[in-house]
Amino acid sequence: MFQWKKTIYKTVCLSFLLIITVTVLQRGMAPNQFMQGQQQRELPPSEPLKSQKRDNSFSISSTFWKTKKEKAPVKEESVTAKQTKSWDVTTTNCSANQNFSKVDWFKGLEPNFQQFLLYRHCRYFPMLINHPEKCSGDVYLLIVVKSIITQHDRREAIRRTWGQEKEVEGKRIRTLFLLGTASKEEERANHQKLLDYENRIYGDILQWDFLDSFFNLTLKEVHFLKWVDIYCDNIHFIFKGDDDVFVSPSNILEFLEDKKEGKDLFVGDVLYKARPIRKKENKYYIPSALYNKNIYPPYAGGGGFIMDGALAKRLHKASETLELYPIDDVFLGMCLEVLKVSPVGHEGFKTFGIVKNKNSKMNKEPCFYRSMLVVHKLLPPELLQMWDLVHSNLTCSRKLNVL
Ligand SMILES: *[C@@H]1O[C@H](CO)[C@@H](O)[C@H](O)[C@H]1NC(C)=O
Ligand SMILES: *[C@@H]1O[C@H](CO)[C@@H](O)[C@H](O)[C@H]1NC(C)=O
Ligand SMILES: *[C@@H]1O[C@H](CO)[C@@H](O)[C@H](O)[C@H]1NC(C)=O
Ligand SMILES: *[C@@H]1O[C@H](CO)[C@@H](O)[C@H](O)[C@H]1NC(C)=O
Repeated sequence: MFQWKKTIYKTVCLSFLLIITVTVLQRGMAPNQFMQGQQQRELPPSEPLKSQKRDNSFSISSTFWKTKKEKAPVKEESVTAKQTKSWDVTTTNCSANQNFSKVDWFKGLEPNFQQFLLYRHCRYFPMLINHPEKCSGDVYLLIVVKSIITQHDRREAIRRTWGQEKEVEGKRIRTLFLLGTASKEEERANHQKLLDYENRIYGDILQWDFLDSFFNLTLKEVHFLKWVDIYCDNIHFIFKGDDDVFVSPSNILEFLEDKKEGKDLFVGDVLYKARPIRKKENKYYIPSALYNKNIYPPYAGGGGFIMDGALAKRLHKASETLELYPIDDVFLGMCLEVLKVSPVGHEGFKTFGIVKNKNSKMNKEPCFYRSMLVVHKLLPPELLQMWDLVHSNLTCSRKLNVL
């Protein structure tokens, strides 16, 4: 298993190296010149280097495969517009909150909760990879996927299946992956380089400078909401989900057809009156020192849900009135509560699995998947296989009418 992974990894590294070498050779330049030349050319004169640094990676990407084509001149207006509205956090300057060192209940907490609390006040981090252009113009559906740096195979499978960017009857669909930084030291250098290449090829990565850990998923949520608030002026709907789910964009479009925008749409696999888990062994365990109420506000499972664009912006503002909570989907439920918006449950979202029994045939039934909007959980090979099945000439005995 390990050996196999290693081989894949090596192959990927080697092919990237090959691509770069070929491109560089074609241009008759040394690698350094190639990068520097690109960077200098793409840098707008008026912007500070810091905030622009990584934005170039996309500029490079757009000219990466086309060696000859001239880049369209940047218009004055768009530059000024970007300056007034862009990611405004450029440094990480956040130290541990020393206030807790004096508190007794803090000392009794598990280390991961201590870590969470010590840095809970660190609200926003700089962007390492940005793609403001993804939200420019009219975007009907923005698909955003929570991913981590090492899961490139999942991103690849999603790009080939439900994450394909396209236009359906004039409705533009765009896809972005949301990432933090590698949580393990040994992953950081190599995987970051791979991610940079991946981003040059596909241009669909947003990355922020915080550690990708389970408790930092809420950071990912608030960073994304802030991003939407800054960059997306004309976005109709957002699908946000995990990188290990099956999604049917055509069913989502069908579902959205009769939905009015600006009606605070928030729909998913909604849990009502869920209780915080107090068993320490559980992944979702929450000590009562952190949350002492008995039930959570209604919230939609983070595996996949849909909201309208205007609501996302309001959620960003609501999020800033709350302290971060370590479970991202519960946190979003808290934000909805602030806005007095109720998330709506829908049968087509199965983010907590289809049926409890993992061995049930239902879990592999393509006719079932065909009728759903989101199903948890499918890993790349299963996802590709199910996608093909669902889009084949499938004869389903009855239409599972959930839409
Ligand atoms: C940020 O960093 C600078 C210099 O490193 C320091 O002087 C300043 O106090 C820091 N600000 C905060 C809010 O920690
Ligand atoms: C620590 O406590 C002081 C005094 O109560 C407060 O002003 C400060 O904001 C606290 N620091 C953090 C990081 O919460
Ligand atoms: C979240 O990310 C920040 C910045 O990288 C890090 O300091 C912090 O320890 C992380 N928190 C957790 C709970 O992993
Ligand atoms: C699927 O069905 C269509 C129309 O019924 C037919 O033209 C096509 O050849 C079929 N494709 C396969 C792979 O069976």
